[in-house]
Formats: sequence, structure tokens, C-alpha cells
Amino acid sequence: MNFKRTILITGGAGFIGSHLVQLLLKKYPDYHIVNLDKLTYAGNLENLKEVEHLPNYSFERGDIVDADFLAGLFEKYQFDGIIHLAAESHVDRSISNPMSFIETNIVGTVSLLNAAKHFWGDNFQEKIFYHVSTDEVYGSLGEEGFFTETTSYDPRSPYSASKASSDHLVRAYYHTYGLPILISNCSNNYGPYQFPEKLIPLMINNINKDKALPVYGDGKYTRDWLWVEDHAEAIDLIFHKGKIGQTYNIGGNNEWKNIDLVKALCQIMDELLGKEKGSSEQLITFVKDRPGHDRRYAIDASKLKNELGWEPKIQAEEGLKMTAQWYLENTDWLERVTSGAYQDYYNEMYG
Ligand code: NAD
Ligand code: DAU
Repeated sequence: MNFKRTILITGGAGFIGSHLVQLLLKKYPDYHIVNLDKLTYAGNLENLKEVEHLPNYSFERGDIVDADFLAGLFEKYQFDGIIHLAAESHVDRSISNPMSFIETNIVGTVSLLNAAKHFWGDNFQEKIFYHVSTDEVYGSLGEEGFFTETTSYDPRSPYSASKASSDHLVRAYYHTYGLPILISNCSNNYGPYQFPEKLIPLMINNINKDKALPVYGDGKYTRDWLWVEDHAEAIDLIFHKGKIGQTYNIGGNNEWKNIDLVKALCQIMDELLGKEKGSSEQLITFVKDRPGHDRRYAIDASKLKNELGWEPKIQAEEGLKMTAQWYLENTDWLERVTSGAYQDYYNEMYG
């Protein structure tokens, strides 16, 4: 089959990646979408069940750190675009094991940059290397203010430092070698298929199981939440319409203090589970704080709105309810990802 473009998505079996792969496969049947994923604990091909049969989809299991593997992959598929999402993504894990973050997020990104540069040679026409990053690179805000694209970098966890390094390296390849790059820095995503170590699915899962709801520190840490499909749409738009060399901030304009968000989830879950109003809130337990916990993130996404016309579509009330409903309807998925059964299966399947 002749395709108009062949796009490599890294980390396409993860939370955001799987939503992006689904969107691109359906929206661009004339694009060949190749999903490269190592299938760590966070990667799950089950997330792509609905689309894996499509003729414009291919999956490759592999590690972005492995330069030889990448060389073979570029030779095989002749990519003209890359959207790079593969990463170690959980802040708490980065505190207990920074090295895997250095390996994947920094070394892996450089391996991918080298592969693109080498394979594309001097002919960068119509090529794009799009790096998906996080608002955490900007550090921590006080009560006021927003991160803009020109805010100085001030990462404070091993995770955000590794993402900041990768952003710098992507920009260095643009300035030094002329590699055509794009970067976006997004706020906290939520929605279906998020691994239940992150705040929202962890709370939903625990409420459903009548387990304690661990709120770090005083619970007044603030995040800006974005519905994951809105993020996927923003990535699609930036990939197609963004100006080469530019950075775009993506945010939900939807700030919540953690404690208020957890209480809102308790209310939604009480309704969905038919429990007495206020009963889930009793599960809230304040626990030891995350070391170096960033107080507040808030994104100014006006550049993306003014230049490319993007705005989030799903509001929090609707999004949180859809998310809670999805987790309640997909307890099998939840059981499998938390039990590690799917990991055993993939190891058996793919070696
Ligand atoms: P995730 O942890 O759910 O998924 C990461 C995926 O990358 C998994 O499928 C995993 O198997 C794969 N992977 C990990 N190491 C790999 C390697 N060495 N080689 C190949 N594949 C590998 O992450 P996510 O939440 O979907 O985040 C995706 C990207 O978006 C990350 O780069 C993250 O920094 C960024 N981001 C996430 C959020 C968020 O709220 N989740 C917000 C802004 C930016
Ligand atoms: O801002 C974008 C980032 O958002 C992404 O780059 C990261 O990949 C993603 O994991 C997310 O990072 P956070 O650290 O903000 O997300 P997390 O869900 O881990 O935590 C959200 C907030 O909730 C944070 O203030 C810590 C707090 N928290 C988290 C957990 C897991 C709790 O209070 N209790 C918990 O059990």
C-alpha cells in the first residue's frame, strides 16, 4: 500500500500515546502510523485493541535507547515524521529510581535525534521531529502567574530535569544541525487508560475498593488538568500547522488544588456507586509529602490559541465523570495492569 506519509510515534502504547495513535489512525487513513514502544509497565497494547487491525497501523516493540535497533527501523519504514512521547513519566518513580529516567528520557531522546539526523541526511524538507514534553520543566509557581513559552527552565525533580534535558537537546539539534523540530509542553492529563499510579485513576480505584485516599502534604498543591483527547488534538494540530523550531504550551485552563479534586472525585463516585453522599470523603488520608513537591503548575496556552486556534473542548465536570465511569466499566483492564498479568503475557509474546 502507498501511504502519503509514514509517521513514527514513540510510546504509543502508553496513556497519551495510545489516544494519539487512535486519533491519527482514524483521521488519516492515508498515513502509515508506526508505533514503537518498549512496553514497560506503563505500556499496554490493550489500549489499542480498537485500531490494531487497521491496515495503516504497525507496531514494533523496541527501546529508543538502542541505536542499532533504531537504524534498522528507520531503514525499514523511511519515516518522514516523528512524534516522540516515549518516556518514564511518573515523578514518584523518578525519586526512587532516577537512572531509568536518565536512560530513556535523555539518552533515548538523543538516540532518536541521531537516528533522524543520520537517516534524513541533509534533506530535511517535509520532515518533522516533534518532541512531546511537560510543563514541569518550568518549575514551581506561587499563588499567582502562569508558565509561558519564555518562562525560564527550573526543573526540580529527576523526572522534570530529565525532560528539561531532552527539551534542550532537541533545541540544540535544531540550532546546530538544522533538524526541523517542534516542542510542546503540556499540563497534567487525565482520562481513560491512565496507569493507576497517577492521582486521578489511583483515587478512583481506591474509592471503588474502599481503600484510603492518600493526599500528599497539606493537599493544597495545584495542577492544571487537561482531558487527554484534547491534548492529542493539540499535538495533531501542532504537528501539521506548527512553525518549525517553535515551542507551544498546552493547558486545560482548569486549575484544581489536589484536595478539592479528590473531594470532587469522591462526590462523583458516591453518585455513580449509589453510595451515601459524603461517604467516600471519609477515606481521605493526609500522608507524608512528596520530596521537592512543586507547589503549583498553571499554563498560559494563549500562543496556541492565537496562532493555531486550539482550545480545550472538554470541561472538568464532564471529563471527570467520563473518567470515573470509564474506570468503573473497565475493572478488568485495571485488574490486569495492576496485577502485572499483562506484563507477563507480553514478555511471553515478545520475548
Ligand atoms: P506513560 O508512562 O503512560 O507512557 C509512556 C510510554 O513510553 C509507555 O508505553 C512505555 O512503554 C513507553 N516507553 C518507556 N520507555 C521506553 C523506551 N525506552 N523505549 C520505548 N518506549 C518506552 O506516559 P504518558 O503519561 O502517556 O506521557 C507521554 C509523554 O507525554 C511523556 O513524554 C510525558 O513526559 C509527556 N507528558 C505527560 C503528561 C501527563 O500528564 N501524563 C503531561 C505532559 C507531558
Ligand atoms: O504536569 C505534567 C505532569 O503531570 C506530567 O509531565 C507527568 O508525566 C505526570 O505524571 C503529571 O505529574 P504530577 O506529579 O503532577 O502527577 P501525579 O498524578 O503523580 O500527581 C498529581 C498531584 O497529586 C501532585 O501534586 C502529587 C499529588 N498526589 C499524587 C499521588 C499519586 C497525591 O497527593 N497523592 C497521590 O497518591
